[in-house]
Amino acid sequence: MSPASKILLREETLEPSFLPPKLPHRETELALLGRRYREALAKGLPYHLLLTGGIGSGKTALARRIAAELERAGRLGDWPVHVSYVNCWRRASDRTVMLDLLRSVGVSLPDRGYSLSEMLDVFEQGLRRTPAHHLVLLDEASALVKQGTKLAYLLSRGREVGLGSISLMLIATEDLLPFLDAASRSSFGVTHRVALAPYDRAALSDILAARAELALRPGTYDREVLEQIARVAAPNGDARFALELLTNAARAAEDEGASAVSAEQVRRAKGSILPTVAESQLEELSTNQLGVLLALSRALKSKGSSVPSQKLRSGHAALLEQLGGAPMSRTTFWRTLKELERDGLVTLDVGSSGESSQVAMDELPASLLATLLEDRLGRHAKGQT
Ligand SMILES: Nc1ncnc2c1ncn2[C@@H]1O[C@H](COP(=O)(O)OP(=O)(O)O)[C@@H](O)[C@H]1O
Ligand SMILES: [Mg+2]
Repeated sequence: MSPASKILLREETLEPSFLPPKLPHRETELALLGRRYREALAKGLPYHLLLTGGIGSGKTALARRIAAELERAGRLGDWPVHVSYVNCWRRASDRTVMLDLLRSVGVSLPDRGYSLSEMLDVFEQGLRRTPAHHLVLLDEASALVKQGTKLAYLLSRGREVGLGSISLMLIATEDLLPFLDAASRSSFGVTHRVALAPYDRAALSDILAARAELALRPGTYDREVLEQIARVAAPNGDARFALELLTNAARAAEDEGASAVSAEQVRRAKGSILPTVAESQLEELSTNQLGVLLALSRALKSKGSSVPSQKLRSGHAALLEQLGGAPMSRTTFWRTLKELERDGLVTLDVGSSGESSQVAMDELPASLLATLLEDRLGRHAKGQT
């Protein structure tokens, strides 16, 4: 590949393991939690936190960012902060999580024969060797907690059980309070719980812009492509999915030797990640719907992620004329668009200040959809005459 066609200049910065330096739209949470931790730790008190939110809402990124900033802050009160991060997904037992925690304080035990309390003794020795505020992050903690963990209790009562200053952060997609025993629950009062809302479209768009700036060569993407990806990912508010789409679209553009990421590559990337419209869904469309969708696919095939509705309407009129069909009234045209929107095939964006709406279709590559529709419309026409 010639260097000129390189779009993903720093692909590693789009990997899930990369911790971005900035988290747009999580600044408030970052500042608030940072302050609460610093205040508590400076007084020598632990601070426990239950962090919840949907998939891709930035829980892991926020937690790791908080931890990194606390570690970097140096001494708080008497000690610096030492972070242990364990992803508990598939480590849904106290013993397996404990093995990872031991490793994080520099002790390793073979994975056999030790009881939890023996492991805790060894953990305590490890903690003693590094006097610090220990911040323990248990990510994806649902299964662990639901299986009746004792570890959550022990880590949230570090002082009482002789483990010293431990702050416990539990991270999960759902509220874990109902699954905790009463004693542990009392460690997670209202100021110790944060639920992250899903990202909306504008937030996803800003996140994509920040990440694209790190990863992609300038001039190889534009705001419209980022907006398109944000629109596709918005129903779930999932930044992970949005970034995966961006990565795949950029890869597709590189593979094709294109100089920039296009809307068509985004549609193709979406198709490769998510199951999209089944052909059977197209079977169920009326001739009116097929016609409008075909005019839309043709307009999108040439360029862009969306078309002004006025332009679509004239393109559609031209298509009808070409096919020898009767013209369609404005009302019918709008009703048909609304039906397509309801079926999840198109997205309508009502423009600001009386501009005409933008009509988008992100489900399939427009070229593929056009071929499918031409085929189907041909059959419809034959069937009807
Ligand atoms: N506010 C943000 N700014 C930049 N990147 C973000 C932001 N929120 C999430 N991400 C990125 O989106 C992806 C998913 O976030 P993650 O923290 O793993 O979500 P969760 O743990 O809630 O499933 C990661 O690559 C992360 O770096
Ligand atoms: Mg996560």
